[in-house]
Amino acid sequence: MTVLPFTRPGIGEAEIEAVREVLESGWITTGPKVQALEQELAEYVGGGVQMRAFNSATSALEAVLLVAGIGPGDEVIVPAISFVATANVVLRVGARPVFVDVDLHTRNLDAESVAAALTASTRAVIPVHFAGLAVDMEPLYRLADKHGLLVLEDAAQAIGTGYRGRKIGASGNPVCFSFHPNKNMTTIEGGAVACNDTAMLARLEQVRFHGIARDSSGHMDVPEWGGKMNLPDVNAAVGLVQLARLDDFNRRRRELVQLYYQHLQESALLVLPVDGDGHSWHMFCVCVDHAELGTTREAIQARFSEQGIAAGIHYPAMHLFSLYRRMGYSEGDFPVAERIGSQTLTLPLFPAMRESDVEHVCDTLNTILTS
Ligand SMILES: Cc1ncc(COP(=O)(O)O)c(C=O)c1O
Repeated sequence: MTVLPFTRPGIGEAEIEAVREVLESGWITTGPKVQALEQELAEYVGGGVQMRAFNSATSALEAVLLVAGIGPGDEVIVPAISFVATANVVLRVGARPVFVDVDLHTRNLDAESVAAALTASTRAVIPVHFAGLAVDMEPLYRLADKHGLLVLEDAAQAIGTGYRGRKIGASGNPVCFSFHPNKNMTTIEGGAVACNDTAMLARLEQVRFHGIARDSSGHMDVPEWGGKMNLPDVNAAVGLVQLARLDDFNRRRRELVQLYYQHLQESALLVLPVDGDGHSWHMFCVCVDHAELGTTREAIQARFSEQGIAAGIHYPAMHLFSLYRRMGYSEGDFPVAERIGSQTLTLPLFPAMRESDVEHVCDTLNTILTS
């Protein structure tokens, strides 16, 4: 039986040819392909921003926090539901992640929950556009302006997402994207920061490559610490092809999601994700009330597995990982995130899926919910 994964990157001949071209060119690490990718990504998101490529979104997020001077004694507000990188980068720069609960239907944080978590030490907030659905940014930016906070958008899952008529990334504030293989477009591993602050962009370039700065005569200095966070040209070459296919990928994702909505039967035991203008449908995550069904999530996953379907888990609530429990977090702190963390299942969604695959997943889940 072939297994239907919850995601699969759409790599074709054009990506393979692009990699071959770079490998044969004699220049395989950061170079002209990265520059071209930065240029094309900036044009894609619009708003006159510039892009700087990184070897992951994790590196990009960490670099922005460093450059913004966030460090020991500072608090950074993050949603309790995200991939753990969102909180880990805060710890990495020596600051404290402060979790807030999310909405059950969007899985996003909102300005009210952020306002309630503010203290005299709050310096930044990292909203996550969960599964490609934009956080309502306008109230959040208003709140951040009022309190002088950095807003660092974690758009790891949101390349191609729209918000109020423009693309996520176009705001001019730092916005980080991921091009990990699960994402809507991939560079294998990779990420990027969109931003329009030229001073911040210059420092991001330094921090991503050993802190090195060169003057106009090429003289090298190291004015600050930097890491090794650059993206190779081989990866950028894959990204250039993927970016050209991104809108088609996202259109196909949306079509498949409409089929999910059509075929899944309504049930009090099932919470479906909400649609929204500009949603890029990185994932289709549901909550299944397994306790009410008299079963466990593992047993539900096993039933999917018997039907050749791999259902994923995105994500456990971050505050319940041992690392964050050691900071004082525990069960009961964020009830919605905890419900999502224990009930969530990611149904397969990727552009090469067939309509019959969606119907098979829906039939399987409908049966689970009624037996
Ligand atoms: C919300 C979120 N933030 C950050 C990351 C980290 O991205 P990367 O794997 O490119 O470092 C991911 C990756 O899954 C993510 O989903």
